[in-house]
Amino acid sequence: MKTDARIEDLMSRLTLEEKIGQLWQVTGASPENQELVRQGKVGSVLNAIGADAIEFQRIAREESRLGIPLIIGRDVIHGFRTVMPIPLAQAASWNPAVAREGARVAAHEAAAMAINWTFAPMVDIARDPRWGRIAESCGEDPCLAAAMGAAMVEGFQGSACATSLHGPRSQRGRARRRLGKPGSIAACAKHYVGYGAAEGGRDYNTTLIPERTLRNIYLPSFLGCVEAGVVSLMSAFNELNDIPASGNAFTLRQVLKKEWKFDGFVVSDWTSITEMIAHGYCADEAEAALAGLRAGVDMEMVSASYSTHLARLLEQGRVKPEWIDDAVRRILRIKLMLGLFDRPIQPEIPASVILPEEHRAVARQAALESCVLLKNDGALPWTGKGHVAVIGPLADAARDQLGCWAFDGDVAAARTVVAGLREALGPDRVIHSAGLPDARSSDRSGFPAALAAAQQAEAVVLALGEDAALSGEAHCRAFLGLPGAQEALIDAVHASGKPILAVVLAGRPLTVGGILPKVNALLWAWHPGTMGGPAIADLLLGRAEPVGRLPVTFPRAAGQIPLYYNQKNTGRPPRTEQHGAPEGTPLDPKDFTSRYMDVDYRPEFPFGFGLGYTTFAFGPTQAPAAAPAADGLQVRATVTNTGKRKGATVAQLYIRFLSGTAARPVRELKAFRRVTLDPGETADVVFDLGFDDLAAWSADMTWDAEPRPVQIWIASDSTGADAAPACVQLR
Ligand code: GLC
Repeated sequence: MKTDARIEDLMSRLTLEEKIGQLWQVTGASPENQELVRQGKVGSVLNAIGADAIEFQRIAREESRLGIPLIIGRDVIHGFRTVMPIPLAQAASWNPAVAREGARVAAHEAAAMAINWTFAPMVDIARDPRWGRIAESCGEDPCLAAAMGAAMVEGFQGSACATSLHGPRSQRGRARRRLGKPGSIAACAKHYVGYGAAEGGRDYNTTLIPERTLRNIYLPSFLGCVEAGVVSLMSAFNELNDIPASGNAFTLRQVLKKEWKFDGFVVSDWTSITEMIAHGYCADEAEAALAGLRAGVDMEMVSASYSTHLARLLEQGRVKPEWIDDAVRRILRIKLMLGLFDRPIQPEIPASVILPEEHRAVARQAALESCVLLKNDGALPWTGKGHVAVIGPLADAARDQLGCWAFDGDVAAARTVVAGLREALGPDRVIHSAGLPDARSSDRSGFPAALAAAQQAEAVVLALGEDAALSGEAHCRAFLGLPGAQEALIDAVHASGKPILAVVLAGRPLTVGGILPKVNALLWAWHPGTMGGPAIADLLLGRAEPVGRLPVTFPRAAGQIPLYYNQKNTGRPPRTEQHGAPEGTPLDPKDFTSRYMDVDYRPEFPFGFGLGYTTFAFGPTQAPAAAPAADGLQVRATVTNTGKRKGATVAQLYIRFLSGTAARPVRELKAFRRVTLDPGETADVVFDLGFDDLAAWSADMTWDAEPRPVQIWIASDSTGADAAPACVQLR
């Protein structure tokens, strides 16, 4: 029977109570929840895996009246037992294949434990490193986040084909072709929408986002996932322009379901429906249920307002029957697409699939491509013959390097920095001294031993950063320096005079200006997952090339935030010669420009930045002098490896409209591609830009590429400093 026919057959047999049951997701494998499933009062569970999930599914299929299977969710965010680098790190690879492969492996391992739905990818645009959930994001840019998010959807849902950043819209739904096949699980783009714009970078805080900014900056990454074929979205906690995102009919019904024609379903975030009372938006749980369903949230996670109040609200005429029926149809459609009626559990994937060598290889490659080299005075790659002292609280921190949302990760399988270097150099050449008990400790009693280790070695690897507990949901920071006494540890080890190769493991950008002069090299490893140690060792020793580029801007000071590359120019942009207000310099009385007096107005490191072990030169960007926007245009530049080693760079294409009916940012990333070249080799990098790449929501809220001059760079990072831009007159 065709899907729609099966849906209508079920709809004709479901009672109102059973329909409302499909709209409720409960958490945990309790007997009470099992009974609710038996009574047909629940359509989904989260946080039940393996045997618990299988038993839930058995009860649903064999003991409930209509035998409708459960969709079983879990936060499989960046891996399951084999943990991949955090999503922010994966975005730093600028390689959608890294995200797709990581999601594919995670789906296989999760499906083996009877999970058929993950609450990922998180594609919130994150411009504020104070926000702990920046770790889960794909960074600050709509183009990069859309590409990485779509690739994760393909990996989880089992796309048959790779996505190209500019894949034709005809690839819509490409990530549904293998849904229901062994190893594929439903994905869930979250948190819809604007969650990352929390005021002050404080989690769950208010967001105020004008519609044009919403559509130009915060919605595109979700549209990318919808176009890829994601089958569910999760509504967010935050209030958006005075209306909570989980009760926001404009974003849910108007944009997602009407404009984008989304045919999957929307699940709320954890109790985000009843939290609309605390928001001061709903008077009570009955009104919260009404607001959520009316706005277009189809399934309520954990809180029970739908289950408790929808029948009465229907009776009172406040809820329309079609709202309930539409929600049930959406959920049944996805359960049918997942094949759950015919095969509620994927027996083909034995539990032994967990953590095989192939999955570790995927995790290692992802970590290799995610690390970003931020400083190197030539100390890297390290080719010494003597001992290496590995010092710091993150040197042997198996749990911490897995990062946030890794509770299913196999900590025992995690290979740390110390383990990676011992494997690469031999245990006898690696001296380990933590220096500090943990990342947040101020206990300096370990400093003498750390200094002694440094003095015995030819070079020092300093493994610093944030423990996993400082990252993720509700873990926001007002100060962004290295926690505890880590900077003092650097000073203590610096006294040894040995080369310091610093590696930072963290879930966000940190302010590192104070340590830069004291280290010879700085490798940003994020929280790199199960195989972080061997990957970091390969990079430090030159067995692999650092290819990562920053997916977020690194500020010099938290006081600069919000600081992101695609900012507006303002009417008084800072002049290039102004670099803060060093002591003793007279403040320029004529300096009426947009900057801080006490810090350089530029970021510490810009979006798109990263070094390798060779150098590259970009030729001038070439494009037609004029072009009709409707036809698009071709843009090209040469890239030459001007160094002595084979290496890779990421050619990044940015545009800037110099004027418009609505002012445009000073840069907008529209395309990117990694280019690998031998020493002396030159390649021609060509990008085809279509109308949608040039368009934006204009002053009258139309999607338009206005007939005005547009600058175009193909460059190595968002400053465009190493590329002469072309200027195209659009017609
Ligand atoms: C959490 C998070 C969300 C997660 C959900 C289920 O509060 O906001 O990202 O998927 O609850 O754990």
